[in-house]
Amino acid sequence: MSSTTTPPKTDVRPIAWKGSWQEGHVEMLDQLQLPTEEVYHQWTTHKEVAESIRAMIIRGAPAIGIAAAYGMFLGARECWKLGVAPNAALDQIQDVLSRTRPTAVNLFWALERMMTASNKHQHLAEDQPEAFLEAFFTEAQNIHQEDIDNNIAMGALGASLMPENARILTHCNTGGLATGAYGTALGVIRATHAQNKLSMVFADETRPYLQGARLTTWECHKDNIPVTLITDSMAGYFMQQGMIDAVIVGTDRTVANGDVANKIGTYSLAVLCKHHNIPFYVAAPLSTVDLNTPHGDQITIEERSAAEVTHVGTKQLAPDGIEVRHPAFDVTPAELVTAIITEKGIATAPYDQSLAALKNPVQ
Ligand code: MRU
Repeated sequence: MSSTTTPPKTDVRPIAWKGSWQEGHVEMLDQLQLPTEEVYHQWTTHKEVAESIRAMIIRGAPAIGIAAAYGMFLGARECWKLGVAPNAALDQIQDVLSRTRPTAVNLFWALERMMTASNKHQHLAEDQPEAFLEAFFTEAQNIHQEDIDNNIAMGALGASLMPENARILTHCNTGGLATGAYGTALGVIRATHAQNKLSMVFADETRPYLQGARLTTWECHKDNIPVTLITDSMAGYFMQQGMIDAVIVGTDRTVANGDVANKIGTYSLAVLCKHHNIPFYVAAPLSTVDLNTPHGDQITIEERSAAEVTHVGTKQLAPDGIEVRHPAFDVTPAELVTAIITEKGIATAPYDQSLAALKNPVQ
């Protein structure tokens, strides 16, 4: 095994702030157009950011949280530009942003963090609105930068769990595109690759939204990470053939007992891993760990449109009028999870204790 001394590559970025806080904008890579086109949008209002989260122009739990933080800042700046105190409408702005997607806890975590920053600086809002906005903007940027730093730390920790010549199966897209940069589960894969320990990534296509086929393969290709695309139904076959050494996924919300909400199909993979005695890892920045929810059955699962199941793009696959269900996430019980990798350390069962110790360390 050899390790690198060069800083990890963090080129794939779904979101960036461009320009000064007074006049600048949020730039977003349109993930609906990938992998065939790289289109960037410039947003200057909180409603545009909210709509981009809802429409999945930006997606992936940490990236959604970062977008929401910039959305809060844009909303405060809109008020200031109208001559109103920048914190005057933050409750409504938070409400608009919070109604976009229900499962990823990072959205609510980032909104709460921005509200806490607003409360801390509220004494500035009336008389020194510029100072308030500067501090508020800094908090959004901190949320963004911390996510990148945490992914890099998590990558290094997770790579230590991977064997030489690792053949790793992953689900959905958990890379730079789903985060500030670098990625959660794909960050662990990047770090494994940087240590010359990666033989192959098997990327589930991730029906029905195809994040694996459209986005994970795109990212891997961009960064010369060896990747093989498979359909979700092939995972068991490759495990049975002895071709998978580990599975690693991200999470949209991991709750106090260690139950893991992630992209639909994750639970099936964990069950397959149990049967084939393959480690099932979850890469979970602590921003996705929700200790306020005790058990996985309390997680709200987003139900998405039937059209995403009956069609691929504009091509219709199923008859008109057919009954369809489309839960976008599932919950993997903690007992199927080998370890949860966070930026502060690797949690193992009993997760109620190990996650709490990592999230709220005794000083
Ligand atoms: O519906 P999406 O594409 O937002 O779902 C993304 C996932 O399920 C990811 O696995 C998850 O956000 C964790 S990794 C960043």
